[in-house]
Amino acid sequence: MQHANQPPPSALNTFCLSASLLRNTELRNAQLVLFLPFILAFHPLSAFKYRMAKITAAITGVHGYLPETVLSNEDLSKMVDTTDEWILTRTGISERRIMKNGATSDMAAAAIQGLLEKTNTNPLDVDLVLIGTITPDYPFPSTANVVCDKLGMKNAWGYDINAACSGFLYALQTGAKFIESGAHKKVIVVGVDKMSSIIDYQDRTTCVIFGDGGGAVMLEPNAEGFGIQDAILRSDGAGRKFLFQPAGGSAMPACVESVANRDHYVKQEGKSVFKFAVTNMAEVSAEIMERNHLTGNDVAWLVPHQANLRIIDATAERMGLEKEKVMINIQKYGNTTAGTLPLCLWDWEKKLKKGDKVILSAFGGGFTWGAIYLKWAYNA
Ligand code: UT7
Repeated sequence: MQHANQPPPSALNTFCLSASLLRNTELRNAQLVLFLPFILAFHPLSAFKYRMAKITAAITGVHGYLPETVLSNEDLSKMVDTTDEWILTRTGISERRIMKNGATSDMAAAAIQGLLEKTNTNPLDVDLVLIGTITPDYPFPSTANVVCDKLGMKNAWGYDINAACSGFLYALQTGAKFIESGAHKKVIVVGVDKMSSIIDYQDRTTCVIFGDGGGAVMLEPNAEGFGIQDAILRSDGAGRKFLFQPAGGSAMPACVESVANRDHYVKQEGKSVFKFAVTNMAEVSAEIMERNHLTGNDVAWLVPHQANLRIIDATAERMGLEKEKVMINIQKYGNTTAGTLPLCLWDWEKKLKKGDKVILSAFGGGFTWGAIYLKWAYNA
């Protein structure tokens, strides 16, 4: 008869068997403990699991769009009191592109269309579209919303990110998190601005700087360690008085006075912005290098925001980079705000090699600034 506290025979048997096994395999267990780290490190299944856990977000394609109309320094000198010599020596800009007809979504759609073709992507497979821009088609709906409709990306959701010249960096880091979390497999990140829609072509201090254009990148999961490695993103709203668009938002809705005062255009205190930009862009770029133990020799490319050649030069110098490693196209396009970084990647795509260590760096209105370190994931 079985005692009330006695375990059922099957449980007892299991216990006895386990105990005897333990005794008999004591030596083997000791060996197992000794070799466990090696087994974990080299067992194919363990390595697979380890790699699966370290999914990174990699750029797998890039495409851009630039309007055809060229506005040269010479053209501007006929519109405001300026000269080609002043613009070139103070900023590095020779010409910029202007979109005569169409909206920001048209530029974004053209860039994404090229990207979809290049990467053989069905629009229905896109999960998410993030658009860095300060010149959306409308206050609402978002430009991402409009673009998804224009290109038939019916299964995607999306939104705009307003971080001025740092818009592409902010959007890239946001997109990377959706990939790393496993939530999405195909994220399109765009940086694009139609600056001509908010620039006062009677204000020589701003109209010579900005241009229209932008680009798009595809972000996908990477299990080999390529793609985005680190990001430092910063903001300081106290800087808003130095660079902003006063009217058109809830602080100053459009009215007869706001239009008469030309308050719907960009206002910039250039010298103040310059000081913040030159310090912060250089600092954040050096910081991301330091914390990833990178020297100037390790970095293959700097992709800097194209606001002013002097700011780019100062950043490269602080990073200890030779000029040949710095992507510069400001002379052709001027400052396209959120568009500058993807336009650089587009222009340099053929030169970028798999494994290249790349630093993207930007500074813009807000203030907003930051740097992203990535390992390039493909050969074009
Ligand atoms: O991308 C978003 C972040 N933005 C930036 O990073 C822009 C940062 N700032 C800059 O790049 C430069 O400050 C500017 C390019 C905007 C201006 O260059 P600057 O060397 O700082 O010139 P400034 O503003 O100190 O002006 C110097 C002179 C002034 O004349 P006075 O007062 O010395 O007689 C300006 O009125 O140059 C005059 N000026 C011009 N002259 C000819 C300003 N704009 C022009 C112009 N043509 N377009």
